[in-house]
Amino acid sequence: MDIREGVNSREDFLRPRCHFMPAANWMNDPNGVIHWDGRYHLFFQYNPDGAWHGNMHWGHAVSDDLVHWRELPIAIAPTPNSPDQGGVFSGCMVDDGGVPTAIYTGVNDDYSRQVQCLATGNDDLTKWVKHPCNPIIGCAPPELGQTRDFRDPFVWRGDDCWYLLLASHIVGVGGAVLLYRSRDLLDWQYLHPLFVGDKARNGRNFECPNFFPLGDKWVLIVSSQLSHAPSTTLYFVGRFEDERFVPESEGVYDAGYSYASLCSEDEQGRRLIYSWIREGRSVAKQRESGWTGVQAIPRQLWLDERKRLCSRPVPELEALRGPHCHFDAGEVGHDDLPLGGFALDIEVEFAVAGGICGLEMARSESGWEKLAVLYDQSTETLQIRRQYDHDDPELDAAPQGMSHRLDAGENLRLRMLFDGSVLEVIANDRSRITSRFYPGSAENATLRVINPASVGALDIWEMASIW
Ligand code: FRU
Repeated sequence: MDIREGVNSREDFLRPRCHFMPAANWMNDPNGVIHWDGRYHLFFQYNPDGAWHGNMHWGHAVSDDLVHWRELPIAIAPTPNSPDQGGVFSGCMVDDGGVPTAIYTGVNDDYSRQVQCLATGNDDLTKWVKHPCNPIIGCAPPELGQTRDFRDPFVWRGDDCWYLLLASHIVGVGGAVLLYRSRDLLDWQYLHPLFVGDKARNGRNFECPNFFPLGDKWVLIVSSQLSHAPSTTLYFVGRFEDERFVPESEGVYDAGYSYASLCSEDEQGRRLIYSWIREGRSVAKQRESGWTGVQAIPRQLWLDERKRLCSRPVPELEALRGPHCHFDAGEVGHDDLPLGGFALDIEVEFAVAGGICGLEMARSESGWEKLAVLYDQSTETLQIRRQYDHDDPELDAAPQGMSHRLDAGENLRLRMLFDGSVLEVIANDRSRITSRFYPGSAENATLRVINPASVGALDIWEMASIW
């Protein structure tokens, strides 16, 4: 049975309805995202065998509007006795003079050997031929000393050559992003590390690097495995001069379940970011449900006047907005508002005048299971709190939070996308926490505003399903 048959029913109310996911099985990183011939193509790490990580392929989906996706047959699969026999790991896609070209990491069976491979596609990106020269990059540069992990190529076109980044981990030093150059995408010359992280602050290992111009700056985004906290996505803003990156500022892209982001520019010149939303439930529960991993709603990126990385879900998403409630200042009380639908888009503005404000969503017969999105002005933090009434130690209920400073006179603006077990929160376009919440029941969903007197405006839309 196609697992999606039940998608709009109450049966699997934890399954998102307006976020892309394949019909079944495991999905992680977005790969090779490209706007090709007027259509958005999303490839993704996919295991056709089930809802667990392993036997990685490139799944494929296509969309005209970044919202409604159609899943297509698998694009790239491992080839026995080849450099990718253990899996087709993450990578990117470029337009090489009209030839769609995927560059990805191939691994052996225990992932100890990670090499870079190239494949070219047909016109509609459904058939891929692996290059006979694979691997095009066979090992990490020896001058770096001992390295672990060497993967996730990100390629872009420079003035007169191609550039490629790889994520690595220099043992004893920390996460590193390595820069290469080529004339033909096949023969690569290693230049130097584009960036080496501070292990204590930026994590021990990097994955999935991205590097691109934005406004008058360059932005580096990496996914980082931290030793003191869950893995996260970091960004650095700076200059790119003489093939060197000079970082000037840094921040956390998302302090939650968003990971392995991949950016690309579309035909309108928008810089878009796609991200994998991880799970916060046990591996057994994931296998049991038959699906795991969700793609975040693609967002558009820009830098504000203070060079902070801003993002907003693409406006195309608003086409899914259905029944709507609007409250002006003074119209919201302390009562619970009943919620319809499994997917909601909420925009709320608070005139922050000290203390704590936010929204709390309750689900469950008892009303005890709660998800709260809060802003604490005394600590200038955006927070998410989750409370369950069943005792499952593998359900992640750890508090989430990140620093969020309001500019002088600025109101708090929250955009929240609730969709099944997914919650994406963006504060003032520039602070982001993605969360997962797995209540035991779909019944009695209510919303309560914390500190209703400070609400400037509240809008709630029920969202239509994309399936
Ligand atoms: C990030 C990652 C990548 C790797 C892929 C394998 O989530 O670990 O570094 O290429 O997933 O599925």
